[in-house]
Amino acid sequence: MTDVYANLEFKELNYQSYLKIPQLLALQQEVSDPIHHDEMFFIVIHQASELWFKNLLHETEWLVESFEEGLVSRSLKILKRITAIMELLDHQIGLLATLTPVEFAGFRDLLRPASGFQSAQFRLMEYRFGIKEPFFLKFFEHDPAVVARLTEAQEKPSVYDSFLRSMKKAGFPIPDTILNRDVRQPYQANPDLELIYRDIYNAPGNDYHWVLMFEGLLDFDEKLARWRQTHILMVTRTIGALGGTGGSSGAEFLKSRAGLRCFPELWSVRNYLGGSHE
Ligand code: HEM
Repeated sequence: MTDVYANLEFKELNYQSYLKIPQLLALQQEVSDPIHHDEMFFIVIHQASELWFKNLLHETEWLVESFEEGLVSRSLKILKRITAIMELLDHQIGLLATLTPVEFAGFRDLLRPASGFQSAQFRLMEYRFGIKEPFFLKFFEHDPAVVARLTEAQEKPSVYDSFLRSMKKAGFPIPDTILNRDVRQPYQANPDLELIYRDIYNAPGNDYHWVLMFEGLLDFDEKLARWRQTHILMVTRTIGALGGTGGSSGAEFLKSRAGLRCFPELWSVRNYLGGSHE
C-alpha cells in the first residue's frame, strides 16, 4: 500500500501556524473555580459570535463600497454572504437552549457586570445598518478606541444611505430630504420611498436586479430580527424574567428592541403590493 503521506512536508506555514490555532484555543478561560463544566460552552458561543461579527463588519464595508461604485451584481453577492452569516448567528445563539437555568446559575453571578451591552462589534453593526442610538455609547466609556470606532460609524452614511445614493445614481427619484439628511441621526422612514419601491416591484421590466436587491436587503433584515427573537426566547428560557447582568430588565428590555428594522420602507411597501390597495 502506498503511503499517502510520503510527500507531505511540514514547512513553516501549516494549518496550526497559519490559523494561529494554539493562540485561539488558549483564549477560552473560565472564571469559575472549581471550573463549571458549562462555562466553556458559554464562552465558545460568545467568542464564535464575535468572530462572525468581525467578518460581517468586514463584508459590510465591501458592500457599502460596492453600492458607492454602483456594482449591483457584486452587491448582491455580498448581501448573500452577510445574510448567510446572520443566519448562522441566529442558529448559534439558539444552541444556548441546551443550557438549563440551574446550570447557568452555577456561574452567572461571577460574570457581573459583564453583558452583551458591551459587545462593541454588535453595536457597530447596528450603527453601520442605520440603528444609531447614542444611549449605548456609555457602555464603552472605559475604552476610547471603541468610542472612536462607534463615533466614526455614527458620522458615516449607513448601508441604507449608500444604497439609496446608488439608486439615485441609477436614475430613481430618491427625495433630496433623504439624500441630504443628517446621517448621524437614526434613519426615519419616508413614505415617498414606498411609492418608488412599489412601482419597481409592480413593473420591474429591465430593473429586475433592483427587485433582487430589495429582497436581498430584506433577507438580511429578517435574519437580524430573527437573531433578536431567538436571543429573547433563549434569555426567557434561561433566566425567565430576571434582570440582565448589564443592569437592564432582561427579556423585557430586549423585547422593546425586537421591532427594530434597518430598511423600514422595504417592509411597509408590502402594504401596497399584490392586494386591493391600488
Ligand atoms: C445564557 C446566555 C445569554 C443570556 C442569559 C443573555 C442575556 C442578555 C440580556 C439580559 C441582555 C440585556 C442587557 C443586560 O441587561 O445585560 C443581553 C443583551 C445582549 N446580548 Fe445576550 N445573553 C446571552 C447570550 C448572548 C450571546 C451568545 C450573545 C452573542 C454575542 C449575546 C449578545 C448580546 C447582545 C449583542 C446584547 C445587546 C442587545 C441589544 O442591545 O439589543 N448574548 N443579553
